[in-house]
Amino acid sequence: MVEDQIKWNKKYKVKTVDISHPDMFFVENIGSIQGKTILDLAGGDGKNSLYLASQNYDVTLLDISSEAITRLNQFASDKNLKISSIIMDLDDLQAFQEIDKFDNIIISFFKPSIKLFQLLYSRLNPKGRIFLHTYSIDQHLVHGFPKRFCLDKDEFTHLSPHLTLIDHQKQKSNDSFLENYIFELK
Ligand SMILES: C[S@@+](CC[C@H](N)C(=O)[O-])C[C@H]1O[C@@H](n2cnc3c(N)ncnc32)[C@H](O)[C@@H]1O
Repeated sequence: MVEDQIKWNKKYKVKTVDISHPDMFFVENIGSIQGKTILDLAGGDGKNSLYLASQNYDVTLLDISSEAITRLNQFASDKNLKISSIIMDLDDLQAFQEIDKFDNIIISFFKPSIKLFQLLYSRLNPKGRIFLHTYSIDQHLVHGFPKRFCLDKDEFTHLSPHLTLIDHQKQKSNDSFLENYIFELK
C-alpha cells in the first residue's frame, strides 16, 4: 500500500540511531538455517541481514521502504558486506511470485497477510525454511499493541499444506511477548 510506503519512508528518514543488534532468535538458530541463500522479508534497514551476511550467508533484503534500503546500503558499505535488495510492496502478490527462490525466508517484526503466507512456500528451494519471529497476541492483550500486527494463537500453524512446522516457541524479551516459528518446505 502506498500509505505503508509513505509511513515507513518517513520513519526511516528521521531514524538517527545506528543499526540495531540482530534478534537473538536468528543468532541462536543460525545452525537451523539451510543452504546459503536468505530472503529477509520486510527486513527494514537490515539488522538481521547485516548479521547473517557477516556470517557468510548470501542475503537479499526486501522492503517497501526505499529509505530503509538506503540505510541498509550505507551500513553494508561501512561493514564491507554485500547485501542485495528489492524494493517491493508485499501486497503485490503477483510481483512477489516472480522473485527468485531462496533456501530460507526470515521474517521479523512483520506479520504477513494470510494470502502472502500461503505463497511463501513457492519462493523456497527444496527443504527450504521459513523463520518467523514477531509479536504474539499477548502483546495486544497485555500492552494494547494493535491486534493486526500480532500473531493469533496457532494462526499460521496449519495454514499451508506445503509446510511442516518444525519448531514453535513463545519468548518473553524484556517487556515484549514474542513468538518464534520455523517451518520447512515438504
Ligand atoms: C517493524 S519493521 C521491521 C523491520 C525488520 N524486519 C526488523 O525487524 O528490524 C516493519 C517493516 O515492514 C516493512 N513493510 C511494511 N509494509 C510493507 C509492505 N506492504 N511490503 C513490504 N514491506 C513492508 C516496513 O517498511 C518496515 O521496514
